[in-house]
Amino acid sequence: MIQGSYPHSRLRRLRDQSFIRNLVAEHQLTHNDFILPLFVMDKPQHKQEIPSMPEVYRLGFKEVLQYCHRASQMAIPAVVVFPVISDERRSLDAREALREDALVCRMVKAIKKDFPHLGVITDVALDPYTSHGHDGLLSEDGTISNDATVRVLKEQALCHAASGADIVAPSDMMDGRIGSIRCALESRGFVHTKILAYSAKYASSLYSPFRDGLGSHPKKGPSHKHTYQLSVASKEQAMREALQDIDEGADILMVKPAGYYTDIIHMLKHSCLGHGSLPIPIFGYHVSGEYSMIKAAAKNGWIDEKQAVLECMLSLKRSGCSAIVTYYALHLAAWIGDNT
Ligand code: PBG
Repeated sequence: MIQGSYPHSRLRRLRDQSFIRNLVAEHQLTHNDFILPLFVMDKPQHKQEIPSMPEVYRLGFKEVLQYCHRASQMAIPAVVVFPVISDERRSLDAREALREDALVCRMVKAIKKDFPHLGVITDVALDPYTSHGHDGLLSEDGTISNDATVRVLKEQALCHAASGADIVAPSDMMDGRIGSIRCALESRGFVHTKILAYSAKYASSLYSPFRDGLGSHPKKGPSHKHTYQLSVASKEQAMREALQDIDEGADILMVKPAGYYTDIIHMLKHSCLGHGSLPIPIFGYHVSGEYSMIKAAAKNGWIDEKQAVLECMLSLKRSGCSAIVTYYALHLAAWIGDNT
């Protein structure tokens, strides 16, 4: 018997002093674990709080660069930019997404110019640009047209790559988009542009504050995204999506939301369905609703914010995440620096 029984084995010996707890810790958080999302607006200077995401702001160019400065000073490896597009610039065909001088492209150039070492990730999806708020184009019968959408997504990803994005991150959940984007990137010579595939993006209620931030709640067509985002009741489909995305040329996979989906993170990273672990990094997205729930409870004095956030992030690392997209990235960098 390897594990002796009590009293020979007293597991509390490994817990009774902080030095020993630290020495035997199997997981820890570092600055390199976090990615900071930024909501960007086409204004030289702007800072407006999103009411359902306290202390998260829609930012103009100047403020975005200030946040990037803080992120790089605090050794956060990367940011992801989400554009806030005005209603007049949204359309049925999402053409605003393909302009060479689109907001995201100008923002990426500005960030890379001032902070060449900061990784910049862009969101490949049409929801900020469509007048109806869906990630894809609507057919005449009101359904989401997969292949027509993929053709636009491919062009959108090329615009982002051409403006200097290090990683393009398709979050739309259309079939076949990873392969199509990978081929397009290769054929245009963007051989180092990485694809972070949202392979397991669930049709979650927890995106609601983000949609408040972007003004992207579905307005026409289906009132939900269940025909393209994964069913909350499915685990098998996450594995199939992941295998397919790897096959099509993804470099990294994303699970989103993260906190309610640690089984999916663990499955993709460590095991399951006879495939062994998937030989690819897994990122988790601690989404807006997850942020706002902790924030609201903390503001009411019902939980300790710092401890709740650290616990959540450690659980995501334990599940198998290599990195986590989180609105708490700057706080985390400060808290970890604190070493308390
Ligand atoms: C859409 C997109 C969403 C988020 C990131 N990209 C929302 C949605 O699918 O409607 C949500 C992120 C968050 O809630 O923090 N492409």
